[in-house]
Amino acid sequence: MQATSRTIATNQLGPHRDVARRVERALRYPLRKPVAEHTREAFAQAQDWYESRSGRGQSPLILDAGCGVGLSTRQLAARYEDHLVIGVDRSADRLSRDHGALAENALLVRADLVDFWRLALAAGWQPARHYLLYPNPYPKSAHLKQRWHGHPVLPVILALGGRLELRSNWRLYVEEFAQALEQVTGTVALVEPWEPAGHFLTPFERKYHASGQSLWRLQADLPHAPELVPGPLTEER
Ligand SMILES: C[S@@+](CC[C@H](N)C(=O)[O-])C[C@H]1O[C@@H](n2cnc3c(N)ncnc32)[C@H](O)[C@@H]1O
Repeated sequence: MQATSRTIATNQLGPHRDVARRVERALRYPLRKPVAEHTREAFAQAQDWYESRSGRGQSPLILDAGCGVGLSTRQLAARYEDHLVIGVDRSADRLSRDHGALAENALLVRADLVDFWRLALAAGWQPARHYLLYPNPYPKSAHLKQRWHGHPVLPVILALGGRLELRSNWRLYVEEFAQALEQVTGTVALVEPWEPAGHFLTPFERKYHASGQSLWRLQADLPHAPELVPGPLTEER
């Protein structure tokens, strides 16, 4: 991958003024999008994998949400050998790239996170760690609702709980997420510069850093709190 990544081009001068309104909506109205059949199947397989490997469902779980080619999933599995690590991405192309064998404690799943997260919460999953590594920024002001903190699925992400870690090359994204996080949970999270110090968890992290871009991150320890989510998690079939 070449080190020529462009910096974020946005028409925003500061945090989007509609963040609070979007979050309020997400807290008030249930997400009615039906769960896609392919994600229901993918989740069922992931659940089988998780349950078959964890003694009575007790092994700590790590979710790598939007894992891309899965390098971070592999690295996290090596770093946390006593955890089960599930990387989720909707891109079959990215997931199919050969980046070496997967460890016994790692799984890559092709699924839409909007559905996967809801199924995970409905199944009672409580990840110990939950990574959102360099999510698509959707930097145009008009695309706020596609950023995770502007999306109706936000309460589900936060309700899963655990140590949530977000990294981005766009400071505003992390600042807006922190604002939304505080609005939903009352948790104040620091937005801090992130210096990988030669250890890159993902290809995007490596690419942005090599291009001289600043990186930002936020961490928050969240309780498992399904009550944050309004209405039914998924529509009945
Ligand atoms: C900018 S890439 C970052 C990939 C990886 N985390 C990294 O840092 O190298 C964002 C990833 O999120 C995935 N993604 C975006 N929206 C998604 C969704 N709704 N469900 C699953 N994956 C999604 C994309 O397919 C893409 O691989």
